[in-house]
Amino acid sequence: MRRFSDAANRLEGQKMFQILAKTKELERQGKTILHFEIGDPDFNTPRNIVDAAYDSLRKGETHYASSSGLFEFKVAAAEVTEKSRGFKPDLNQILVTPGANVQVYYAVACTTNPGEEVIIPDPSFVSYKSVINFLGAKPVSIALLEKNDFRLNPKDVEKAVTDKTRMIIINSPHNPTGAVMKEEEIAEIYDISKKHDFYLLSDEIYARMIYDDSEIKFHSPSAYDHCKERVILSNSFSKSYAMTGWRIGGVTAPSDLTEKMTLLLESTTSCVSPFIQKAGIEALKGSQEPIKAMVREFKKRRDLMVEKLNAIPGINCLKPKGAFYVFPNIRTTGLTSQEFTDFMLEEAGVAVCPGNYFGDSGEGYVRLCYANSLENIERATERMKDALENKTYQ
Ligand SMILES: Cc1ncc(COP(=O)(O)O)c(C=O)c1O
Repeated sequence: MRRFSDAANRLEGQKMFQILAKTKELERQGKTILHFEIGDPDFNTPRNIVDAAYDSLRKGETHYASSSGLFEFKVAAAEVTEKSRGFKPDLNQILVTPGANVQVYYAVACTTNPGEEVIIPDPSFVSYKSVINFLGAKPVSIALLEKNDFRLNPKDVEKAVTDKTRMIIINSPHNPTGAVMKEEEIAEIYDISKKHDFYLLSDEIYARMIYDDSEIKFHSPSAYDHCKERVILSNSFSKSYAMTGWRIGGVTAPSDLTEKMTLLLESTTSCVSPFIQKAGIEALKGSQEPIKAMVREFKKRRDLMVEKLNAIPGINCLKPKGAFYVFPNIRTTGLTSQEFTDFMLEEAGVAVCPGNYFGDSGEGYVRLCYANSLENIERATERMKDALENKTYQ
């Protein structure tokens, strides 16, 4: 009997969860591990958001909700989009989803046939490639170069377009490099998508996480067509509101595509829990001060992380302008990304993620998520330095 579909055999998932599983095993054996492998804020969800969920639960809002999302949620999301991006989407353009990850699946599944192509940056968030492959479409990777501060080059995009291109995915600020794209680069990519008539999915999950010393400011391609024609604006509460475990996000797209994506959500997930949506409404409408405070804290950590990594012989690290990752070049250590990762876990008790998990161009790099205390960043970088100098730790 054939046990699995071809599609199932193409699934890759998120390999960093396998590193997390390995670290848990080492911790069970009594080792102290310093965690930098997963992109999860170490702050708790702000209290007002948690209270909104409690209130909703106590009111008995524990039933199915409408599959496209609560009316009040969509109104709040549209208002925030107007403030942050300068246009107010129609409510039928918005779909409430369990996080942003699944939005990539909905968008590709509803627009792209098997054999058609989706352009993605390399390295990039691992789900893009996994989902595209699962759906039988073809990921077309464009290498992001360190010498270009890991920004996607529109000239490379133009060269990658074929008559099979259905979509491009961009992500600024970017996982895993923290790169932020310039407005003119985003404009050029939008023009290319218009000229060749394909969708542009803009993954803006780190939009609020750009540091105030960055000369490049946040820009969204949704400004060009208000998500009426080809731009799909993907967003979630996970990172900026420290809500990774809540599983809530919102996607804004042309209304005919939103209708199809709603049918897919309805067929697979039914709806997002109403009390989770109530927490989301509070996140959007309540004080934004806790979010700003988190970003200020992340900036201090980034600065320390970059300084300490660059003090380790064999490691070279650019200072990223956004998100909460660094992507140091480790080539001069002579180790591959995987070897460096295994070595650091075993010898230094520091968990990082190999750059090649994010695409072939990530080989020679590792990703560290600095959602960890200043003290642990000091300890981890000391341990890494010692390990590379062949000392042992504690
Ligand atoms: C670039 C990017 N997009 C989307 C996601 C998915 O986030 P979530 O599903 O938690 O909203 C992540 C998570 O790491 C990410 O880094």
